[in-house]
Amino acid sequence: MIVNASAPGKAILVGEHAVVYGRPAIALPLSSIRANAVYRRTRSPLTLIAEDLARPPLKINADAIESSDPLALMVGLTMQFLGLENVFGEISIQSDIPIASGLGSGAAVSAAIGRVIARLHGTNLPDEALNRLVFEVEKQHHGTPSGIDNTVVVYELPVYFVKGGSVEFIDIADPLWIVLADTGIASLTRDAVADVRSRVHLAPCQTARLFDDIGAIVIESRRCIERGNPTRLGELMTANHRLLRALNVSSPELDHLVDAALDAGALGSKLSGGGRGGNIIALVDKESAPAVKQSLVEAGARNVMFTVAGQGSQIDDSD
Ligand code: PMV
Repeated sequence: MIVNASAPGKAILVGEHAVVYGRPAIALPLSSIRANAVYRRTRSPLTLIAEDLARPPLKINADAIESSDPLALMVGLTMQFLGLENVFGEISIQSDIPIASGLGSGAAVSAAIGRVIARLHGTNLPDEALNRLVFEVEKQHHGTPSGIDNTVVVYELPVYFVKGGSVEFIDIADPLWIVLADTGIASLTRDAVADVRSRVHLAPCQTARLFDDIGAIVIESRRCIERGNPTRLGELMTANHRLLRALNVSSPELDHLVDAALDAGALGSKLSGGGRGGNIIALVDKESAPAVKQSLVEAGARNVMFTVAGQGSQIDDSD
């Protein structure tokens, strides 16, 4: 017997970091890059195989629920939620979401694992419950996650997210043409988040002002998305990047790719996710898309991906 389940990657459009401190943020699912979990029945106790995550096979023990390993913990949490005593077989994780690059790999892998275990037992794991379980695992990845990654990845819809608030989905009036470009530098979100936390302690008022400015950008961005104003949305994204630089979560490599996108005619560009490394996101239009992609490749981006958000299925390609 073979059972499959999957979950998408994600990109934060605006609002990262400030979202950890109660300001809103907007994130988009990336439906064409996915983590897939494939279950195969065997007579042995459950083993997770995740070569794409550069990990050796992992045998799941009875104490998975207490594991410090995020994958084992997700299995343990799912089994507990579904009331399963034990699971036999093999789950292989195949993922085309780059790790440690701000595209939601950890949350997507967790969501796919939860879904496949539920599916193979012929039961449904409602999105709301799955979201809570993935959030528990995200705490192990990030320390103090806002919850935006698990939310967008589990529901696979554009979200306007406020920590602790109810989930709000956004209607995209005009499809958003997006280019993502990877610096090739792996970076741990938890480190960037910890540095921002130190800054909050050292300069609380100044940092709160930066968060407020980011929050205002997110609120206006939502209006632009819902009313179809890409030109203004682009300006807001670039302004958000300047504020993230002021928060000290950018890097010369990220700034270089942001400039390359803007110089080639992008409507706006910024880092996306935890920062320091990982990806930039650029908003483009039909005319500027090829030049922006080309300029990012020439500027040294490792992987350039094009996607359209808000038109049902997404069109993607990678260089
Ligand atoms: O997982 P990443 O790298 O896309 O970053 C998540 C966004 C942060 O705001 C930096 C952290 C969080 O938990 O919201």
